Amino acid sequence: MTHRVALLPGDGVGPEVIAEARRAVDALGLSLEWTELPWGSAHLHAHGRMMPADALETLETHDAILMGAIGDPSVPDHISLWGVVLEIRQRLDLWANVRPARLLEGVPCPLAGRTPTDVDMLFVRENTEGEYSGIGGRAHQGLASEVAVESSVFTRQGVERVLRYAFELAAGRRGVLTSATKSNASRYGYVLWDEVADEVAAEYTGVRYERVLVDALAARMVRDPAGLDVVVASNLFGDILTDLAAAIQGGMGMAASANLAPGSGRPGLFEPVHGSAPDIAGRGVANPAGAIWSAVLMLEHLGETGAARTLLTALEDVCREGPRTRDLGGSAGTAEVGEAVAARLR
Ligand code: NAI
Ligand code: MG
Repeated sequence: MTHRVALLPGDGVGPEVIAEARRAVDALGLSLEWTELPWGSAHLHAHGRMMPADALETLETHDAILMGAIGDPSVPDHISLWGVVLEIRQRLDLWANVRPARLLEGVPCPLAGRTPTDVDMLFVRENTEGEYSGIGGRAHQGLASEVAVESSVFTRQGVERVLRYAFELAAGRRGVLTSATKSNASRYGYVLWDEVADEVAAEYTGVRYERVLVDALAARMVRDPAGLDVVVASNLFGDILTDLAAAIQGGMGMAASANLAPGSGRPGLFEPVHGSAPDIAGRGVANPAGAIWSAVLMLEHLGETGAARTLLTALEDVCREGPRTRDLGGSAGTAEVGEAVAARLR
């Protein structure tokens, strides 16, 4: 069976890193067909919208989506983000955002004295509701009395499914699940989250469950990352914590993510955690590791477990032995690193 993959290179460094992820996957020689979709900020300037009106129908005819990043200084970020990424996550109901935060050998860690054995966390971010539900409004714009309201939405069903999935993942790893909320200051949504977590925890007696306030967790990630296994968090908290996790695993260029609807058969969306990095775009210096690692997660989703393992090993080898991009202390360009990974696969 041929896998059909929708490819959204996007803006900024997106096309640069996605080219290397594609090169690596092609080197594996799988039966896989790419559909390149030129959506993003240039599409907005040319056609008045970030992606076509039937974009979701197009994506649904594929088995997976591999995306670079969306965002350009010429477009307000809330327009570009809601025009593509958030729209796809919500409309395809990709409710679990899974982000491995593992320090690979050869990658410098900003935490003194930490080695790969200290940093192996897996983040599960709720991906369709919470603080990013898109509910709110503004009144009296431009007046001194102007007001903006933004509401968080937590549903029992939405919270339960992501918690249950995180418990499953923890049961298959080191058996520790940390849930991050802020239920001392916020009295409704996160309190519901904690209550549901207690209920689900009772079913997973083999997993050690702990509830931590998100601010304390941020400090713990820096002080003692080795004490963390799987971390589950709301949409906003997961977003923030995984940028911190990316820094701990060597920088934004290293971090990968999978947006999934487990058990649904819908296509997953795979993307590096980083954005379009306009500060380095067009110079061929972006680190393609996060995009290549995202392709590993995509291959797992497609059932290509062996190929996923092979690709991850090639990425690990290149991180250990070089070449490396500037963010990792090297001097290689994006394509040189991508080619080094692909060469190990041919
Ligand atoms: P960013 O992740 O693009 O950049 C943050 C820092 O990390 C910059 O210094 C950048 O140079 C560096 N960086 C990012 N990717 C890198 C890579 N592959 N190799 C080496 N260094 C890398 O975040 P920022 O600057 O906050 O956002 C830029 C644009 O991206 C905005 O328009 C934002 O809305 C968008 N964005 C889009 C996302 C998506 O499409 N899922 C996610 C995050 C941001
Ligand atoms: Mg983010």
